[in-house]
Amino acid sequence: MKKLFTEFNLKNVSIKNRICVPPMVIGLTDDGYVTAENIARYKELAKGGAGLIIQEATCINMDGRLSPKQLGIWNDEQIKGLKSIVDAVHAEDCKIFIQIHHAGVVGISEAPLCPSAYEYTGYGKTVVGREMTEEDIKSVQNDFIQAARRAYEAGYDGAELHGCHGYLISQFLNKNINKRTDEYGKNPEKFVTEILDGIRKVTPKEFVVGIRLGGFEPTIEAGIHHAKVLEQSGIDFFDVSYGFSIEQEMHVSEEYKFSNAIYAAEKIKEVVSVPVFGVNGIYSAETAEAVLNETNIDIVDIGKGSLINPNWANDAKNGKDTGKCFNCAKCMWFGQSQVCAGKVMFEKNNK
Ligand SMILES: Cc1cc2nc3c(=O)[nH]c(=O)nc-3n(C[C@H](O)[C@H](O)[C@H](O)COP(=O)(O)O)c2cc1C
Repeated sequence: MKKLFTEFNLKNVSIKNRICVPPMVIGLTDDGYVTAENIARYKELAKGGAGLIIQEATCINMDGRLSPKQLGIWNDEQIKGLKSIVDAVHAEDCKIFIQIHHAGVVGISEAPLCPSAYEYTGYGKTVVGREMTEEDIKSVQNDFIQAARRAYEAGYDGAELHGCHGYLISQFLNKNINKRTDEYGKNPEKFVTEILDGIRKVTPKEFVVGIRLGGFEPTIEAGIHHAKVLEQSGIDFFDVSYGFSIEQEMHVSEEYKFSNAIYAAEKIKEVVSVPVFGVNGIYSAETAEAVLNETNIDIVDIGKGSLINPNWANDAKNGKDTGKCFNCAKCMWFGQSQVCAGKVMFEKNNK
């Protein structure tokens, strides 16, 4: 494993290998404040040997939540608990960024916000997102900015804007959803670049700020364009994933060896010079190494692989079984990972 275990510097953050545990909400809180279980979970993941963890989607305000069990960063009083996660992870020689999030129309709000009116059916109910006024936009942008300031104060090594998977930033970037006729519609990246400018005013310039970006938002051409604009605005890295699932067009050859998200990351890295992370379907050390050697991607995200086996990176380094995902989807969302088929089998085989 030549490249997987080489160091990587992202601005002034030195990451001991190319393995990142990407954000995965599990829901171990009832009020958005960090619990002992949250701290224990991140400590266990950090002990597992990854160079970097990106903490789960952590909400910037209560209205933007995806679940009542989601962690929050909307209040200065939450900094103390968040710092406990940071300290636990740093004690294991691992770096940690935090993903900051607003769900927009797909959240639990009774009157959800959206760049423009959009009907969305999910979790058994249909809602119509209310078009955001300029005042709403400024207010949510400010909540992102204050969340990043709190992240810096809590000691995180960086912040990642949740800009994909159909949440608020993804809704702004995707022209099938954002039908605004003002500047936020004509230049859909404006919503994000203003957040970035605001964060730069309240944190030191060394503080790492990246984005998890949908590669197909709704097309790869649009994804590449968003990336170019955001790089010009000073974003520090791209963690490339999928866009709004029901509003994206993916035309990737069946011959392509890795996931469509990795394909998009590869295309984006062709036009940007900041680091790019790739994700989806990397479960073995061999696949991780192949992604790093056969594409231009800098860092690999090991998501479900880390739920199945939190010691994934150490096991990969020692040539051991890292586990297998059966795509049973039991890990999806809040608190079901105990019944994940891959985890049950991994634990049985590695007692
Ligand atoms: C339980 C669970 C929770 C997730 N939560 C988030 C999240 O908070 N933010 C995010 O950007 N992606 C989230 N994801 C997506 C993962 O970060 C990752 O992109 C996805 O699982 C694909 O990678 P994998 O094949 O390595 O699992 C979640 C995935 C799972 C399984």
